Amino acid sequence: MSGERPTGKLRQEKLRVGVLASGRGSNLQAIIDAIDAGRLDARITVVLSNKKDAQALDRARHHNLADVFLDPKPYAGQPDSREVYDRAILDVLRKHEVELVLLAGYMKIVTSVLINAYENRMMNIHPSLLPAFPGLEAQKKALESGVRFSGCTVHFVTEEVDEGPIILQAVVPVEHDDTPETLAERILSWEHKLYPQAVELYAQGRLNVEGRRVHIMDATNLPFVVLRNPS
Ligand code: GRF
Repeated sequence: MSGERPTGKLRQEKLRVGVLASGRGSNLQAIIDAIDAGRLDARITVVLSNKKDAQALDRARHHNLADVFLDPKPYAGQPDSREVYDRAILDVLRKHEVELVLLAGYMKIVTSVLINAYENRMMNIHPSLLPAFPGLEAQKKALESGVRFSGCTVHFVTEEVDEGPIILQAVVPVEHDDTPETLAERILSWEHKLYPQAVELYAQGRLNVEGRRVHIMDATNLPFVVLRNPS
């Protein structure tokens, strides 16, 4: 099992990325900004949302990226409605020749239809140090548990929610007077650094998945270090 990108392709053309988002889209924006700044050698070929009014779609339009709203409602009530919906997503991703899928605040369970099609080619970002605090309200759970540090995690997507081989993590301190909102904001600023970096590592063909572990080739060269992400 490997998340390594074929290196032949690396030299020929930019990595084609598809982003799935349901809301604000600040992580999408971080990816766009990293590409514009030359820190990420990739191209977003489509931004897709299950929410018509997602700010992520506005951001896509603002940057002249293909934006797609795929309404889940017509699929509801059908047998295997989630899988059928994901098949429709897959059609969009294939049409835009997406090589790597990024979940960026995508608030819908992804089924095996997408996961198998993009095995080790689909990433998610989560606002905690997984495996601690999976699921919703991770920052609130971190505060309630009394941890001194939380953070964020970029991982490959598998069928279990917020599981899957971990690519990068950043550690963020929890301050005494934090609210879920202030902690979320502090973590978010690190998410915006971490996600583009994980994508760039993939684009460079430097991620190798062995079971649950991701080996980063030449990890000493990472452009920024919080606590060193071991190779
Ligand atoms: C982020 O905190 C991300 O970790 C989580 O959902 C939030 C999405 O924020 N999965 P945004 O839509 O990227 O601004």
